[in-house]
Amino acid sequence: MFRIGMLTSGGDCQALNAAMRGVVKGLCSKRNDVEIYGFQDGYKGLIYSNFEMLTAKDFSGILTMGGTILGTSRQPFKLMRVPGPDGIDKVEAMKHTYHKLNLNCLVVLGGNGTHKTANLLREEGLNVITLPKTIDNDLWGTDMTFGFQSAVDIATEAIDRIHTTATSHSRVFIVEVMGHKVGWVTLHAGIAGGADIILLPEIPYDVDNVVRAIKSRTEAGKHFTIIAVAEGAITKEDAALPKKKLKEKQEKKGYPSVAYELAEKIQNRMDQEVRITVPGHTQRGGSPCPYDRVLATRLGAAAADLILKEDYGYMVGIKNGNIRKVPLGEVAGKLKMVDPKADIIKEAKIVGISFGDE
Ligand code: F6P
Repeated sequence: MFRIGMLTSGGDCQALNAAMRGVVKGLCSKRNDVEIYGFQDGYKGLIYSNFEMLTAKDFSGILTMGGTILGTSRQPFKLMRVPGPDGIDKVEAMKHTYHKLNLNCLVVLGGNGTHKTANLLREEGLNVITLPKTIDNDLWGTDMTFGFQSAVDIATEAIDRIHTTATSHSRVFIVEVMGHKVGWVTLHAGIAGGADIILLPEIPYDVDNVVRAIKSRTEAGKHFTIIAVAEGAITKEDAALPKKKLKEKQEKKGYPSVAYELAEKIQNRMDQEVRITVPGHTQRGGSPCPYDRVLATRLGAAAADLILKEDYGYMVGIKNGNIRKVPLGEVAGKLKMVDPKADIIKEAKIVGISFGDE
């Protein structure tokens, strides 16, 4: 028997099911002795030995389905070897489940936090293969994560729809886009949706520059402005603060999110109606776009190939259109951020988009 454990961890995203389907189809087309143990709700399932025996049939017909058939959860523990309040050493518990089930390999689909744990399990001697999922696209070692393009589509549609109402009312609209500490979704959706101002965590902004950009549009006869702001965007002033001070300042200010603070600051500086739209978790919901279905299927097939060769300890990623394996030790703990000097930023500026930095 060839025993595979599988789990999805962290925030869900589109194409998780498509990727698992790719792995299982790839394995089952080559071997007829594959047993699949699907762990429920991420690492929790591995810790508490909650799993279901699945067959190839369970992964059939799920290519277009959003979410994850295994369920997921945010990692409920810190990467510490000491037992938590429940007295359980989570790492030992995961190893115990793996060995008890006599698994040949653990397949993990997840983002940054998930990869740290996956790498720890590898260091502890488990055979691990991972696939890069997240709408944030912030995983090191891959040009693209699945979920990202689907999220870009949804955020773009939100901006598109805001365009007509912003124009009718001559308003400033702030669309707050997900992405955690990075600006990939905002940058791409902002350009695709024709946003006039794009604010990213990687390019700290100054509200006075934002106001200047709005005013120069008004002077040019355009009485509406669309601002795509990343949920992690930061002002130049705040970016200069030490982390602890920044946290204290943000807690004291008590805005629900960055868009609200920005709206207030704009309104304090000019006579202009401002509205806020937060598409939120819709960006992670629903069916994957065709690009993500293809990417997830390719990554799933590549993961299956590595597993069949018993070549473990890698994340499968994509670089310049080609699928490749990246050592887990290289991926874990690194964030892939937007480079403020990248061509895409220069090109966006050429077409008149302001990033609030100048
Ligand atoms: O990592 C994906 C993501 O959607 C981020 O963009 C966002 O900051 C976060 O998850 C939201 O997390 P939760 O679903 O736990 O509220």
